[in-house]
Amino acid sequence: MQIESAVSLRPYNTFGLPAVARTLVRIRCEADVRRVVDHPEFGRAPKFILGGGSNIVLTRDIAPVVLKIEVEGRRVVETRDDAWIVELGAGENWHEAVVWTLQQGLPGLENMALVPGTVGAAPVQNIGAYGLELKDRFHSLDAVDLVTGRTVTLDAAQCRFGYRDSVFKNALAGKSVITRVRLRLPRPWQPVLGYADIARKRQDSGIEQPTPQQVFDWVCEIRRAKLPDPAVIGNAGSFFKNPVVTQEQCRDIIGRDPEIVHYPMPDGGFKLAAGWLIDACGWKGKSIGHAGVYEKQALVLVNRGGATGSEVVTLARAIQESVYGRFGIRLEPEPVVV
Ligand code: EPU
Repeated sequence: MQIESAVSLRPYNTFGLPAVARTLVRIRCEADVRRVVDHPEFGRAPKFILGGGSNIVLTRDIAPVVLKIEVEGRRVVETRDDAWIVELGAGENWHEAVVWTLQQGLPGLENMALVPGTVGAAPVQNIGAYGLELKDRFHSLDAVDLVTGRTVTLDAAQCRFGYRDSVFKNALAGKSVITRVRLRLPRPWQPVLGYADIARKRQDSGIEQPTPQQVFDWVCEIRRAKLPDPAVIGNAGSFFKNPVVTQEQCRDIIGRDPEIVHYPMPDGGFKLAAGWLIDACGWKGKSIGHAGVYEKQALVLVNRGGATGSEVVTLARAIQESVYGRFGIRLEPEPVVV
């Protein structure tokens, strides 16, 4: 277990925001978590769990002990008639893990290519892209309890997955460290091609039955065309969740704004495209201080260079107010504001 003091977190959050961790512990295995739990000084101290830092907005220095999850490992644990089960260390980079599964001939994650962050962070917010969510490929995970030091295995029901949500953002927030995630990749492979952008790629290419690699390439092309690479422009992906409204609310909004992008939900409600709402309020390309709204996708807030967390929060509040003023809808941030 490696304990460090006064560590800059700027390289460890994809927004590139300045903040310092008073104490940072690198977690490379489950035993490291138990060592923290048993530690005379840090055992009972509040903890802050850091994965790839792709879903946080740091507005201040971090006094709780930062546990930086660096557990490695990729292996196929079971080959069944109906699925492959793969196990990944929580510290593995998500996109590289997706690439690895394809190289091993284990398709099923390609729609979630290029999602930033680590494997361990993927279940926390139930990442999703292009018609697929982590929960659709989830088998189970191992997590270590930060009070007892005991390892528990949770299945999908216990993780209580929702839209960009899970038990790790609620009852277990800061209480449990995910160390390993097992995914279930169904056999035979069936491509997921329903999402509009993918359907368009399929039509343009004239390929009726794409391979997993083809779908992966399409997803990478779509993302690279409209989402900024955090290595070049600091950002945390979508900054707000897509709001869900009732049928009556949706009808009312369509009455006023017939162009509004909306999708029917299984429960009768409608999901609205937050990016469209923000765009309609004229925010695309605008800035407050050094924080801005990305030119190609209004749902993504970016660091134009030297931004602070409070500038990002000020921009986010201004956007929320203008969307509320025009549409009567409250946008909810997707990343965790610290
Ligand atoms: N739109 C605009 N203007 C904009 C942005 C979007 O009019 O500035 C419209 C688009 O034309 C489209 C609709 O809004 O009709 C939806 O846009 P897009 O397909 O880009 O998807 P999104 O709803 O903005 C969601 C996820 C993304 C995920 C994509 C693809 C959320 C909050 N975001 O974005 O996830 O990659 O779908 O599945 O659910 C993330 O969570 O960090 C993330 C990037």
